[in-house]
Amino acid sequence: MRRSLLVLVTAIAALGLLGAGLAWFFDRPPARPGAPRAERLWIALCADCHGADGRGSWRATLFLIRPGDLTDGATTGRQTDQYLVDIVKDGGSPIGRPGMPAFGAALTAEDIRALVAYVRGLARAPRVRGSS
Ligand code: HEC
Repeated sequence: MRRSLLVLVTAIAALGLLGAGLAWFFDRPPARPGAPRAERLWIALCADCHGADGRGSWRATLFLIRPGDLTDGATTGRQTDQYLVDIVKDGGSPIGRPGMPAFGAALTAEDIRALVAYVRGLARAPRVRGSS
């Protein structure tokens, strides 16, 4: 009797720890209050892999997802708007880069254009050290 109680309490504690761990793991900083739509979309849909600042999230790296560094103007600076719109809309698969998921079904063309503009803004933003 005692023993089953102990097992139950341990199981509940383990579940609690697992939940807390997952919450910590998947937590992301909320968008600033009053942030423009593109920034809120970025935080909600893209920051898990690309990091809030676009340099790639270390959490994504743990899952062997390599989103690259979108703040590197040397690469995004050379890409056309059309290329960036297409990769967000159709994902990386059509061009052999399957790590990047497609958002065409979830976002309007206008939202995608706004996100592309946001990504270009990240490349110009000053680098923040220590954030994921
Ligand atoms: C599941 C993780 C994940 C999510 C979520 C994600 N991306 Fe990506 N993204 C990637 C990976 C991985 C790559 C690199 C693909 C490759 O090079 O093979 C990438 C590449 C890109 C590129 C192309 C960079 C280049 O140099 O060609 C852009 C632009 C981009 N992502 C924007 C976005 C935007 C905008 C969102 C949100 C709507 C988003 N991503 C959400 C994983 C993700």
